Amino acid sequence: MNTNLDVRVFPTPAELFPAAATEFIRLAQEAIRISGRFTVALSGGSTPKNLFKLLAGFPAADIPWEQVYFFFGDERHVPPDDPESNFRMANESLLSKIHARSENVFRIHAEEDAETAANNYEQQLIKFFNLQPGEFPRFDLIMLGLGPDGHTASLFPGSKGLSEKHRLVIANWVEKFNAFRITFTYPVLNQAACVTFMAAGADKADAVRRVLQDKMQGPPAGGVMPVDGKLLWFLDRDAASELPAGLRGSLR
Ligand code: 6PG
Repeated sequence: MNTNLDVRVFPTPAELFPAAATEFIRLAQEAIRISGRFTVALSGGSTPKNLFKLLAGFPAADIPWEQVYFFFGDERHVPPDDPESNFRMANESLLSKIHARSENVFRIHAEEDAETAANNYEQQLIKFFNLQPGEFPRFDLIMLGLGPDGHTASLFPGSKGLSEKHRLVIANWVEKFNAFRITFTYPVLNQAACVTFMAAGADKADAVRRVLQDKMQGPPAGGVMPVDGKLLWFLDRDAASELPAGLRGSLR
């Protein structure tokens, strides 16, 4: 395993999000320069909204959005116009603002039966990345968040999805929500060229410590260790407040 870990701590979210946006643009420009495209899986929840709004405000000259292909690392089992929908959040804060081409946006059709939605999304990945059986897609970037319980994407503590080693996308039953989520599995997350975690706020501090200290033995997010890629953490001081000095990286 060749995970290149980099923990970046910022005084407040006001410094964190611009830094994460700059890194997103840098990764996109590098991928487009090398391969003519940038494949990114967006994270859900509320934290990324601030980043997406910043990205929407970047000059078009900074990033040829028509060469960016948008995927989603997970989705709630709701229609795309539902307030809980990760697609709706990304569409309102970024995709509609940059006029992303519809053919470049791969939405999880979570209005369907959960298993059907997962199977269909898996087939879309296989087709887009031209995968052979047993192969996993290598995203240029997978963006992730972190729940206070240490979940990431929709890989929750105690859920069956944690042990999935073969499927790319699954419908994962989440007991505490009494609902399905559709989510990438660890093999997809760990095949990425770069994975970024963004976490802000003191409510994430315990999970951040457990993930970075205990890694695979810790909560679900600890299982994200790119086999040959970068693992970047963007934290504010509150979310990093329980990290021992050796794990805190450099305060930016
Ligand atoms: C989701 C996300 C999930 C999220 C964390 C953090 O669908 O909710 O994929 O993994 O990143 O729950 O959410 P917040 O950013 O809202 O704290």
